[in-house]
Amino acid sequence: MADRVVVITGASSGIGAALARQLGKRGERVVLGARRGELLRKVAAESGPDALAVVTDVTKRAEVERLRDEAIKKFGRVDVWVNNAGSSITRNTEAITDEDARMIFDVVVMSVLYGVQSILPHFKARGEGHIVNVSSFLGRVPLIPYRSIYSACKSAVNVLSANLRMDLGASYPRIRVSVVMPGIVDTPYHEVAGPGLKVRAGGYLGTTRVESADEVASKIVEVIDRPVAEAYTSPSSIGLVESYFKDVGAFEENLAKRRQGTEGDNQGRSQYR
Ligand SMILES: NC(=O)c1ccc[n+]([C@@H]2O[C@H](COP(=O)([O-])OP(=O)(O)OC[C@H]3O[C@@H](n4cnc5c(N)ncnc54)[C@H](OP(=O)(O)O)[C@@H]3O)[C@@H](O)[C@H]2O)c1
Repeated sequence: MADRVVVITGASSGIGAALARQLGKRGERVVLGARRGELLRKVAAESGPDALAVVTDVTKRAEVERLRDEAIKKFGRVDVWVNNAGSSITRNTEAITDEDARMIFDVVVMSVLYGVQSILPHFKARGEGHIVNVSSFLGRVPLIPYRSIYSACKSAVNVLSANLRMDLGASYPRIRVSVVMPGIVDTPYHEVAGPGLKVRAGGYLGTTRVESADEVASKIVEVIDRPVAEAYTSPSSIGLVESYFKDVGAFEENLAKRRQGTEGDNQGRSQYR
């Protein structure tokens, strides 16, 4: 199947841009949303002859609805909607300001809600469709304290997605809802979240090499081809999830011990995103 219409938010950079290029190469038609128009149009030019760029701020409901309308106007339908746009911040719980919390909640959670609520009537009318929400491993296992508000918001994305899936399951079995949880990915995300932070492998967790945006995009393409409820992009994630839920206290203690001795590198920050 290579003629789907796929809307991707946050497609001006990183994972979203890589996904657009990969889908475009396969002959899928992509509609790209993000705020930086020039970058977005450049990615569209690399994502197949029909790719459409629609400048969109995903924290504004009307702009997300316009993204949907432009997609349907150009192609007559949408098959897949990927809520990928996101951002983070480097601040521990005690230091989070009202503005930080609202900004991250808007860009991580409200953007997904707007995407879902904008496209669902169209999917229901057609009786089919696929929503893919790009979350994070940190939405499942909150192991980086300075990503506190971001982890909390990605957990909310996981929960909203699971509840939506259950809502739709009985009456609309051909509308699928997937969550993709990347680990550490080499994209501009890190610089946006904490200027000066450099991406590197999460050494003291005994994990994890850094994935490229292209590798994560390939996983998302797999999920689009064969929808599943949830997918991790890093092979080490399942083991970490299992040991976390087996004994949260022991996991945190072990983590604290492993952290000792790594202080100094990136101010002791792991790079697990
Ligand atoms: N990189 C990682 O290690 C990692 C790990 C786990 C999960 N993730 C998740 O993966 C997704 C993609 O991130 P990435 O790593 O590819 O980061 P990135 O390269 O910084 O890309 C983020 C994208 O989101 C867009 N965006 C941010 N705020 C927006 C807004 N208000 N309206 C519209 N678009 C907005 C940006 O476009 P504009 O600035 O042009 O608007 C950009 O295209 C995010 O949801 C992120 O949380 C990343």
